[in-house]
Amino acid sequence: VIPLTLGEIAAAAGARIEGADANAMVTSIVTDSRAAEPGSLFVALRGERADGHDFAGVALANGAVAALVSRGSEGALLRAGDPLDAYLRIGAALRARLGATVIAITGSSGKTCTKDLVAAVCATERATVATFANHNAEIGVPETIARADASTEVLVVEVGSRGVGHIAPLARALRPDISVVTNVGPAHIGMFGSLDDTTRAKAELVDALGADGVAVLNADDERVRAMRAPGRVVTFGVARDADVRAEDVELDGGARASFTLAIGDERTRVTLAAAGEHMVSNALAAAAAAHVAGISVAGIVKGLSEGATPPGRMQVVQSGARTIIDDAYNANPDSMAAALKALAQMGRGRPTWAVLGHMAELGDSALEEHDRIGRMAVRLGVGNLVTIGAEAKAMHEAARLEGMFGGEARFFADADAAIELLRRELEPDAVVLVKASRAAGLERVVEALS
Ligand SMILES: Nc1ncnc2c1ncn2[C@@H]1O[C@H](COP(=O)(O)OP(=O)(O)OP(=O)(O)O)[C@@H](O)[C@H]1O
Ligand SMILES: [Mg+2]
Repeated sequence: VIPLTLGEIAAAAGARIEGADANAMVTSIVTDSRAAEPGSLFVALRGERADGHDFAGVALANGAVAALVSRGSEGALLRAGDPLDAYLRIGAALRARLGATVIAITGSSGKTCTKDLVAAVCATERATVATFANHNAEIGVPETIARADASTEVLVVEVGSRGVGHIAPLARALRPDISVVTNVGPAHIGMFGSLDDTTRAKAELVDALGADGVAVLNADDERVRAMRAPGRVVTFGVARDADVRAEDVELDGGARASFTLAIGDERTRVTLAAAGEHMVSNALAAAAAAHVAGISVAGIVKGLSEGATPPGRMQVVQSGARTIIDDAYNANPDSMAAALKALAQMGRGRPTWAVLGHMAELGDSALEEHDRIGRMAVRLGVGNLVTIGAEAKAMHEAARLEGMFGGEARFFADADAAIELLRRELEPDAVVLVKASRAAGLERVVEALS
């Protein structure tokens, strides 16, 4: 964090100091009381399970300079009406003092994959700090800003959205220099309402750019391509007119993509570390953002060829001759389709299994989207489809209608029964894709098989 006095922080947060020393330096900001130490500001937030206000005493006992609270009265306090809102204001004040180039990333799919690639690429040449894991919302954005300090040259920030109006205040605090939009798709469409609303929600990150800011937009995605930016636009994609392009994309037996990366007049062959053709788009987004941030083509190529995917995203786990594709972190229609294609590619000449659970938050289109994925599995020639959970059943039924036999398409109410079948029937050289929305918790299947 950029060190500030408690007085400066209180002013930024619109908070009142009670029983604390305004001249004390804040050298870390924490939301977990157990992480508090001398110099920490503890921000009391209400979570799903716990309320940080109940732990302010613990944080202060651990040496925190003060606790930012809305209620309670003991110890060194910063009092604000809404500590979460105050946290974002503190983030904005810290941001204003940063010298780093701020790269913000949003989109329906691939934000975390892209964030990690941007960070891997930028870290080859600059002191880089990035969002931790998937901390991409109103807590994660100020948390990420607070991770940076005076030595940080590039700050990479994942920004998620739950609907129109959600990103705007986050982006105002973040003031990105470069805004990346990966794609717009039906992920969480039940929450957004329509694809138009999803597009508007993601465009808020681009709207937040200043006249000197640069929008990095996906030329292969009509909705993203059509976004208007206050300043310069740099596009990426396989589209011929994209500024940063992939040409001659090829997949190897491990579904890893190679392509010719074209930036301006420079052309270099790149092979990605991560599996799946959809990673090409993320890699191009990362290349474009890093290029705008001043990273050399050599640095971009190095970062892209070494950058791995985050846990649970297209992670290839080898267990003897058997290959497990762990994509169990989450699922939406676009990422399901992409993962099935990778399975088909990796499984050439080997038995293939798709072990799939439901895709959450699809609202009225849930039935149609599950149906589409079930049929796609058959059309891609996937050998076995194991569907888990009542909400995923439409996928199973669609596969049967599309021509899969009963022995090939099987439905289970829960993961345990499916694991039992897989233990019995999986061939030693099988390729197995495991994928579903977070709520399905299919990482249990991955654990059981690896
Ligand atoms: N460009 C892409 N197109 C489609 N699917 C993708 C793309 N990039 C990654 N995925 C897949 O989408 C899923 C989620 O990836 P990732 O965590 O990077 O996305 P995210 O946008 O950060 O998701 P979240 O909304 O949970 O933050 C994974 O299964 C991953 O393989
Ligand atoms: Mg994410």
